Amino acid sequence: MNILSIESSCDETAVAVVCNGRKLLSDCISSQVAIHRIYGGVVPEIASRKHIEAIYPLADQALAEAGITRAELDAVAVTYAPGLIGAVLVGVNFAKAAAYALGKPLIPVHHIRGHIAANYLTHPELEPPFLCLVVSGGHTMLVDVADYTKMTILGGTRDDAAGECFDKIARVLGMPYPGGAALDRRSQGGDETKYPLPRAKVDGNPLDLSFSGLKTAAINLIHNARQKNEEIDIPSLCASVSASVSQALVSRTELALAQTGRKTLAVAGGVAANSRIRAEVTALADRLGVKLCLPELRFCGDNAAMIGAQGYYEYLAGNTADMTLNAYATKSLVGETL
Ligand code: KG4
Ligand code: ZN
Repeated sequence: MNILSIESSCDETAVAVVCNGRKLLSDCISSQVAIHRIYGGVVPEIASRKHIEAIYPLADQALAEAGITRAELDAVAVTYAPGLIGAVLVGVNFAKAAAYALGKPLIPVHHIRGHIAANYLTHPELEPPFLCLVVSGGHTMLVDVADYTKMTILGGTRDDAAGECFDKIARVLGMPYPGGAALDRRSQGGDETKYPLPRAKVDGNPLDLSFSGLKTAAINLIHNARQKNEEIDIPSLCASVSASVSQALVSRTELALAQTGRKTLAVAGGVAANSRIRAEVTALADRLGVKLCLPELRFCGDNAAMIGAQGYYEYLAGNTADMTLNAYATKSLVGETL
């Protein structure tokens, strides 16, 4: 089953063709990062306009690279939530038009479910049930994946996402948007004990997290040092931030593994590219004797291949939509089924 797969929820326009949820026939992406970098973050209206310009030629490119014709497509899958509403709308409306014109099923895919499914592309043997740590620019949550389309959020951040925390600190340090990867690179060789930063605990659900205190503490530290004309040891500060985020994520993941009894752990989302987090979840999995799945770096951030991977399983579960499909900025909260 060949699925034309579309992702436009933030600042990447992406179109892929995925066969049977696991085999990638093409994977095209048009990144807007260079444009938004000028403003230090994503400008939603610019993102929507750039998606409109990019999506049609990118779909043609994805078909050409897959070596198939439009007639050989069996369905169209698209991210319908969550994301920047104008940006998601572009993908949803393109997908609706394509599905209608082709006379093929339309499959709505939740963006976070897509991130989780990125693991199926890198690990063809992976099957639910498993626990997934989702860490992206907009979301941080632990998800129990009981089946391909049955997922429960066990806990998550009460405020900032891990990626947002990395990006905001990186921005104050003068690193270009999105700063997460640059902060990760600069942390190499730093002394993480030099600048002790808070590791937040939250009341209530022990699987919940909070990153806003860490973000504020790091930004205050930078401002204070600048006011006093003190030089900041950037690698050490970056290492301390990375250690604090990683430790918070890994401790909740260990607890969630104990709570659910799952024997497989997957990680998903843009922040899954972080070297410290990858090393620490690998150590955790080794220590607990749990099988670990990390997506290839190219499938960590936003991409359309992951939408096609999840779209296949949504289709098998009967989760298709008609032309009334809408786009949503937010969908599903902690405590709810994903
Ligand atoms: O999943 P994603 O592409 O978009 C969302 O759905 O939010 O994640 C983007 C996030 C950004 O915050 C980016 O800075 C972060 O992933 N990121 C990283 C690294 N690479 C990307 N954060 C920390 N370390 C990295 N190596
Ligand atoms: Zn994403």
